[in-house]
Amino acid sequence: MVAPIGQDLDKALHLLESGELVAIPTETVYGLAANALNGRAVAKIFEAKNRPSFDPLIVHVASMQHARKFAIEFPLQAEALARRFWPGPLTLLLPKTSEIPDLVTAGLDRVGLRCPAHPLTISLLAHASFPLAAPSANPFGYISPTTAHHVQDQLGNKVSYIIDGGPSRVGIESTIVGWEHNEPVIYRLGGISTELIEAVVGAVLVKPHSTSHPQAPGQLTSHYAPRKPFLLGDLMSLAAAHPHKRLGVLSWKGFDRMPGSVQMVLSPNGDLTEAAHHLFSMMRTLDESPVELVIAEEVPNQGLGRAINDRLRRAAAKV
Ligand code: TXA
Ligand code: MG
Repeated sequence: MVAPIGQDLDKALHLLESGELVAIPTETVYGLAANALNGRAVAKIFEAKNRPSFDPLIVHVASMQHARKFAIEFPLQAEALARRFWPGPLTLLLPKTSEIPDLVTAGLDRVGLRCPAHPLTISLLAHASFPLAAPSANPFGYISPTTAHHVQDQLGNKVSYIIDGGPSRVGIESTIVGWEHNEPVIYRLGGISTELIEAVVGAVLVKPHSTSHPQAPGQLTSHYAPRKPFLLGDLMSLAAAHPHKRLGVLSWKGFDRMPGSVQMVLSPNGDLTEAAHHLFSMMRTLDESPVELVIAEEVPNQGLGRAINDRLRRAAAKV
């Protein structure tokens, strides 16, 4: 059984009201959504993704006003960030109200709230009487989906409907910001660069890696992992080290020395925004190509480049 793909928001809303799962487009990546206030519906997300239940879900809301209903406190810095970047690729970790089921936050006191910037999903949220809990719509640990067909390919038999909103504009997940002792902390690098966050709230602590007990599994060292071996480093040296393998190559601006390889270029003009937009779909295309090994290089480590490099390193990390 495969899920129907379309743009019928009434149908999507009806399914969500009945506790079913619907894949939703966002500007970052596609989400696997359920009514966040319905614990049984939320449980289906964990089952469909094969996701460990210690991994909390982001709750998507229609507006800042809507977000306030689910946070006990909305500190001034959070408000400033929300005003500047919502709707957009920013998730705020704020102390939750009791209306949010514990399963959504994996028992944590804070809930991740985000107002996504996609017209279809904003319209869906505006018509729903509940917020939507949604992780990225991929099996746990695999590359995140940026088109409706990516979702269809991997979770098509687990969702009731897929809303097709076209390719995700930003292409990389939201930046996650929370506060510790009133100081802002970035827990996941994402679609809003650290520089832009700091322009609003001043210096932030970046804590994207965690040790044994992750606060966010996007922090797990190995994540976003392709199925084929995926090596990150200097393309020339990596290619030289694997002379007899059929290679997939993911380059930053191009790499012309490799006849017989399958090549993907993140951004021929060296534009980090374009590179982020292409990242996951190119990783996926290479993973599905008839190659034995994929080699990739980092992009400049600034702005969105830091989030891109974060994803590349986790994809390359050995489990
Ligand atoms: O851009 C995005 O954020 C996408 C779209 C669909 O909105 N969603 C997404 O969800 O990336 P997911 O579940 O794949 O990643 C969310 C990350 C996880 O690493 C999770 O552990 C962390 O956010 N997270 C969510 N709620 C949290 C909480 N209450 N405390 C700490 N981390 C949280
Ligand atoms: Mg994810």
